[in-house]
Amino acid sequence: MIYPDSDENIKKATELLKSGEIVAIPTETVYGLAADAANETAVSKIFEIKGRPNFNPLISHYAQVSEIEKDVIFNERAKLIADEFWPGPISLILPKQENSRISKLVSAGLETAAIRMPNHPLCLKILEAFRGPIAAPSANPSSRISPSKAIHVKNLFQDKVKFILDGGDCNCGLESTILDLSTEQTKILRYGAINAIAISNALQGEIVLSPDDKEGIKAPGMLLKHYSPQTKLKIDFSLENIAADYENSALILYSFSSIPPEKLNYLHSKFKSVFELCSNANELEAAANLYSILHKLDDLSYEQICVEKIPKSQISKAIEDRLKRAAA
Ligand code: TXA
Ligand code: MG
Repeated sequence: MIYPDSDENIKKATELLKSGEIVAIPTETVYGLAADAANETAVSKIFEIKGRPNFNPLISHYAQVSEIEKDVIFNERAKLIADEFWPGPISLILPKQENSRISKLVSAGLETAAIRMPNHPLCLKILEAFRGPIAAPSANPSSRISPSKAIHVKNLFQDKVKFILDGGDCNCGLESTILDLSTEQTKILRYGAINAIAISNALQGEIVLSPDDKEGIKAPGMLLKHYSPQTKLKIDFSLENIAADYENSALILYSFSSIPPEKLNYLHSKFKSVFELCSNANELEAAANLYSILHKLDDLSYEQICVEKIPKSQISKAIEDRLKRAAA
């Protein structure tokens, strides 16, 4: 069931987490399926409900750096990143403390753990009251599209998730950037709203490797097929020479505002429906809308969904990354 924002429901969610239950909570990126990261039984429910392979570790969420320091070694680079971007959409991979509360299941037996401080008022209230690590992967079955609204979680899991706290639409709409600070070389493992240039600036000009650089480890969860709708998805769709029959297909354009009106009319005549990711070519809006458009179109049984190539911007790498996995 979806529970509205109220002090009582925040308290209820916190109590459920303390008692080892799972709860769906809002964050600024996507909704998360939360459990007490110190409680193996609670965490195992997340893996079971998501159908997630247990070699794929989870991110632990906190409201206080003092709590984080109990569980991971919060190094100098982590302090710089936290000062600049937290609370916000960036997760850090750091070495676990010897007596870390984060369970082995959460970190999939690795010596490192992923942690972040999300920027969402409801989520922060729960985390503050909880005073410990809350593990939360995106609240979708493995490989499906992540949820950016409470109703997406309900549609994806039905009765399997009993408590969904409604925190409105996720502002950011794409999962957090994942930054590996556990090794000498700082490396982005997953693209997100916070990009390499901003990270490098926060680290006083240090070189930051990207997922496209071959060397170094990968996030175990970066499987190619991910964030996928059930309808066939065609990416980098060219708007030139549209010969084939698309009358049962949907087209997602970046922004109507960047297409001449005659061309737009023509596209409307060729496709069953035409959508835009954002109005006025606003890249942050495009990122925030991506998953909700995919959820919507996936329910409308089109033959296929075609997506125009995303123009280069600060966040285009993250959007392209999600589309590539969705189409795999
Ligand atoms: O925005 C987000 O990060 C959302 C919200 C709910 O916070 N969470 C999220 O979690 O996207 P999830 O489980 O869908 O993705 C976590 C990613 C996986 O790709 C996993 O492999 C990686 O983090 N990860 C976790 N711990 C790791 C570690 N110790 N080393 C490398 N990668 C790790
Ligand atoms: Mg996920």
